[in-house]
Amino acid sequence: MSEVLEKLEQCPIHELSPMHPDLLRCPAALNKRLRDEAPVFQDPSSGIYFISRFDDVVAMSQDSKTFSSVMGGATTRAVESSEPEVVEIMAQGYADVPTMLTQDPPLQRRYRKFVDGVFAPSALNALEPMIDSISHELIDRIEDKGECEFLSEFGVPLPLTVIASQIGAPIEDLPKLRRWTEAFIDNLSQQVDLEGRIKTAKSIVEFQHYFISRLEERRDKPQDDILSKIVNASIEGDLPLNNGECLSMLNQILVAGNETTGAALTQGILLLIDNPDQYEMIKADPSPQMIANFVEEVLRVSSPSANMYRRTTRDVEMHGVSIPEDSICFARFASANQDESQFQDALKFDITRDNLKTHVAFGKGVHHCLGAALARREMNGGCKVLFQRLENFRLQPNDEAPEFMANALLHGLERLNIAFDVRR
Ligand code: HEM
Repeated sequence: MSEVLEKLEQCPIHELSPMHPDLLRCPAALNKRLRDEAPVFQDPSSGIYFISRFDDVVAMSQDSKTFSSVMGGATTRAVESSEPEVVEIMAQGYADVPTMLTQDPPLQRRYRKFVDGVFAPSALNALEPMIDSISHELIDRIEDKGECEFLSEFGVPLPLTVIASQIGAPIEDLPKLRRWTEAFIDNLSQQVDLEGRIKTAKSIVEFQHYFISRLEERRDKPQDDILSKIVNASIEGDLPLNNGECLSMLNQILVAGNETTGAALTQGILLLIDNPDQYEMIKADPSPQMIANFVEEVLRVSSPSANMYRRTTRDVEMHGVSIPEDSICFARFASANQDESQFQDALKFDITRDNLKTHVAFGKGVHHCLGAALARREMNGGCKVLFQRLENFRLQPNDEAPEFMANALLHGLERLNIAFDVRR
């Protein structure tokens, strides 16, 4: 165990440094201390206010007038840095336009309207056979090996292939989409150095040029994909979306959709390995209801979208702490999902909980995840096929213990090397 984690219990609360990489990787004990002793905690290194209790996270998510998602002048992104190298690269692309995730109502609602139909239940029903066949194809590639690195061989490719097909990107471009997604995540993570910021900026500009040319193609010749829907959507009395708005929405759909769902699926397998009693229950009854319960508990315990930024639009007083106007806060969804006041024995992975679906892994209020229903279908569909075809998931012997990424926003494993048996 790292020194920081070892000393966590004894460390005075005001000396805690929640952005330390070891605590980003392994935040559960820190989150408990913050919920118990400092539910509103200002991180001395970043200045960010950490809001960690379930009720507070829900309340701030429902009060976008006070807790804005528009970051404005508050620089939380690596590419907003002023280094000339980064500025020069970004000048070759398109300026970021705040849309759904980075916008407040009423504009945020306006943007959601343009994509409402894309994730409607009827559209998702039509996707189920595709989720099924991609899951089978991914398992075809690994079953003879009896082992795999689950994140890159199943967790991410499943949602990435689904969304790429919906966006209309060809299969050979999947590695590029993954690289761009990772760059956007780094951009928000607060953990990149100058070299990383340059790399991130290059990837963002590459992404923009790739999609601008495809958007223009779809404007002339619409196809049955998300790009065509976004670029040609018309809402009565409103203008169509311009290129900058389309890029921002695509970026959010890609980033918010792939790494999160991949991270949840991957942590799901680790949770099965770590909790054999729960795995036995699923083996005994792999029904859709049981898999759905498993998926909800995985979402609660893994909470891939661990933190999201908010900016205060006025002075706020919470739990005796004064948060000045224009401060950056973190809505700590992962911590909220471990709050004992909401979930009894919260650190326990328990697929029989009676309040399984009350978690906030998809957020709450106006920003509630646009892709929640899609992510659920992908996770349920993917797990159904996995459990039909493979069994006895276990860590690869002699491999290092699985490690989590040090990312301020996304909580997920770096990799998960597993072995398994094929069901006969
Ligand atoms: C397990 C998978 C996923 C998790 C855990 C997750 C989590 C979240 C969370 C917590 C929020 C709220 C953010 C906030 O309040 O600031 C959110 C919003 C959002 N998510 Fe997801 N998400 C997932 C999958 C997806 C997928 C598959 C898509 C798209 C295809 C998607 C697209 C979005 C978008 C566009 C928003 C912003 C909505 C708005 O602000 O109006 N997400 N997601």
